[in-house]
Amino acid sequence: QVACTICRGTAVSNSETFELDDIDWDDLGFGLVPTDYMYVAKCSKDGNFSKGDLQCFGNIEMNPSSGVLNYGQGLFEGLKAYRKLDGSILLFRPDENALRMRMGAERMCMPAPTTEQFVEATKMTVLANKRWVPPPGKGSLYIRPLLMGSGAVLGLAPAPEYTFLIYVSPVGNYFKEGLAPINLVVENEFHRATPGGTGGVKTIGNYASVLKAQSLAKAKGFSDVLYLDSVHKKYLEEVSSCNVFVVKRTTISTPAIKGTILPGITRKSIIDVAHSLGFQVEERLVSVEELLDADEVFCTGTAVVVSPVGSITYLGERVSYGKTGVGAVSQQLYSSLTSLQMGLSEDKMGWTVE
Ligand code: COI
Repeated sequence: QVACTICRGTAVSNSETFELDDIDWDDLGFGLVPTDYMYVAKCSKDGNFSKGDLQCFGNIEMNPSSGVLNYGQGLFEGLKAYRKLDGSILLFRPDENALRMRMGAERMCMPAPTTEQFVEATKMTVLANKRWVPPPGKGSLYIRPLLMGSGAVLGLAPAPEYTFLIYVSPVGNYFKEGLAPINLVVENEFHRATPGGTGGVKTIGNYASVLKAQSLAKAKGFSDVLYLDSVHKKYLEEVSSCNVFVVKRTTISTPAIKGTILPGITRKSIIDVAHSLGFQVEERLVSVEELLDADEVFCTGTAVVVSPVGSITYLGERVSYGKTGVGAVSQQLYSSLTSLQMGLSEDKMGWTVE
């Protein structure tokens, strides 16, 4: 039984704005559907987080001088919960998100919750909002953990207090194209990350800084932007919201993790799934020429899952892939991964958590 520690159970849902009946499960996009509860824990200077509790989902109070608002001292995570055919709910590799948050927190001078606290808090938040987990095959419950410097600072320094918060929202496909191939443009002017920077951690600033290039690309009809390395402007890095893979015959290649690329959990999972299916997988420098010469290209991410790329535009030239539809490799990897995530196939890797 859930009781919000703030309203003591007097407010039991977000019905002011949205109700379950308002959802068309067949037409879920990737937008916020406010749910019932969020989890909140605080950490002061001693570095230990409070036990944390569930509160009704809603606005939070923030000191105008907080570290996150003034200096961007914040991280986020993304993971998903799926409803199985028997009604139970599966999380996909939540411990990996916990570890990635800990790694990012170290880079951003923040304390982080332990893996146990992260996973327990995630389970608690999903269970409190379980009515919002879409029916099997209709989408998932996207889980967004945040870690932020909520204490007040004026001079540039780590904040004196931190908030770990988790909220959730039912989601469907990330791109408006749905499962159809997306069209990317290779960005030649703006860079997402640079060696020695924070491109390899999930800090909020990495996402604010790509909005400009992304909106210019969208205005020209592209789905998103593919970034090149900032030193040679020659090697692939990642798309604004996901990692990228290129397929040539039976070899699948993806840019190696070297500090400028986000270590995606779907990326890592797809590498293992591809190996298990007999593909050769290479993590290395992947040049833009190889991209243009590939048989297939696809993107991976928690939000995007496995998204086939239909075309790449580079310096005004457009190259199309899979003219006959979604590439066979992307399709095979998508099916293998999602059937595991939804509990439709045996989880030999031990990646799912009930
Ligand atoms: C995710 O895939 O979970 C992300 O965090 C990317 C975000 C831009 C939606």
